Amino acid sequence: MNREYWEARYQSGDMPWEKGAPSPGLVDFLAAHPDLPRGSVCVPGCGTGHDVRAWAQAGFDAWGFDIAPSAVRLTRERSTAAGLVVHCQLADFLSDPPPQPFDWIFEHTLFCAINPSDRDKYVQAVLRWLKPDGQYLAVNYLIPEKEGPPFGTTKEEQWERFSPHFDLLEQWVPRSYPNRTGLELMSWWRRK
Ligand SMILES: C[S@@+](CC[C@H](N)C(=O)[O-])C[C@H]1O[C@@H](n2cnc3c(N)ncnc32)[C@H](O)[C@@H]1O
Repeated sequence: MNREYWEARYQSGDMPWEKGAPSPGLVDFLAAHPDLPRGSVCVPGCGTGHDVRAWAQAGFDAWGFDIAPSAVRLTRERSTAAGLVVHCQLADFLSDPPPQPFDWIFEHTLFCAINPSDRDKYVQAVLRWLKPDGQYLAVNYLIPEKEGPPFGTTKEEQWERFSPHFDLLEQWVPRSYPNRTGLELMSWWRRK
């Protein structure tokens, strides 16, 4: 799945992930933690930017990145229309260097969108884009699908991939969009 693949999905409107609202789990997380220090957050694979705007609305310096030019355009247009200041740039999260290291990375349906053979690269990208004391907050999709995207993951895989580099602060089943109820796992990690 390269840039052309994702851009074609935006061009044809084949976007079943587009729910018109941020991840319910993220909304609840931000409401439950009003006292987090307000730093910079990177949302890789940001789509049309709902999650970026949720972080911006909560007072964070919010940055979205996407490999598809249409996603970047839509994030910029919708954020301006909402009166929110966000940054959005075209980038391949897996191979590009970050414009700056971030305090937070928020994962939501990028891990399940990339080819599973790129998951080692994904973990390396998280380490490259995050500050040494950064935090990684993830909403993962616990589905069995091996033909994707979306491609499933498991709690065990998340532990194997991230626990060598991060301490797990909290893990829970979040509130979800209706068609994902009970199928998501949220993990809040702090870099070791
Ligand atoms: C399933 S969509 C999810 C979009 C958004 N996170 C949401 O939940 O609405 C996956 C997104 O990741 C983007 N993407 C795929 N591979 C990427 C990569 N290597 N770097 C940055 N973005 C990527 C796609 O263009 C698409 O916008």
